[in-house]
Amino acid sequence: MTPFKISRALVLAVSLSACIAASAALAQSSMESASVAARPAGVPDPAQAHPELSGVFEQFGGMPGMTALMDEFMAILLEDPRMRPFFEKVEHDRVKRQLAEQFCALLGGGCVYSGRDMQETHAAFAIDKADFNALVEDLQIAMARRDIPFRAQNKLLALLAPMHREVITR
Ligand code: HEM
Repeated sequence: MTPFKISRALVLAVSLSACIAASAALAQSSMESASVAARPAGVPDPAQAHPELSGVFEQFGGMPGMTALMDEFMAILLEDPRMRPFFEKVEHDRVKRQLAEQFCALLGGGCVYSGRDMQETHAAFAIDKADFNALVEDLQIAMARRDIPFRAQNKLLALLAPMHREVITR
């Protein structure tokens, strides 16, 4: 190959790899928007991020704190005769993981929630207002036991409260 041919081949190879990289990036970004668009129109985002609350997430002890909180919360739910019937037969580790991920995402902790939306998750259960309040009460007990500052507790509860619309099924 002459030097001219070599440099032409090099230019071709470089532009080809740039093309491949660009189309891979495009495919990635359209996959991301596809996963966001996968939620049907009108279904509220179960984990809308609030980056301004990342300081609150830190008050929960970041992800290790959130994981420990979910262990405490699930133990309390299973001891509570009002909540036990809902939770005794579900996969505890998975639910704890999804809850920690959801709360981390909500509080601007940078997690991406990979679970189902709130309506789909709870549709199979007969949940009324009293059940909802009982669960919130148990979460408050768990947060108090973990010494989460009261104001931080209330920030999280304020984000969860509007979800009663999707969670309460009767
Ligand atoms: C704001 C309130 C609530 C939030 C944010 C919430 C959030 C969640 C999340 C993230 C999951 C896991 C989703 C997934 O599997 O992909 C879940 C599962 C579950 N939740 Fe809730 N939840 C709430 C209230 C309630 C209430 C009041 C009850 C019942 C009294 C309840 C019962 C359950 C049960 C039984 C599961 C396991 C479902 C299964 O594995 O099929 N939740 N919840």
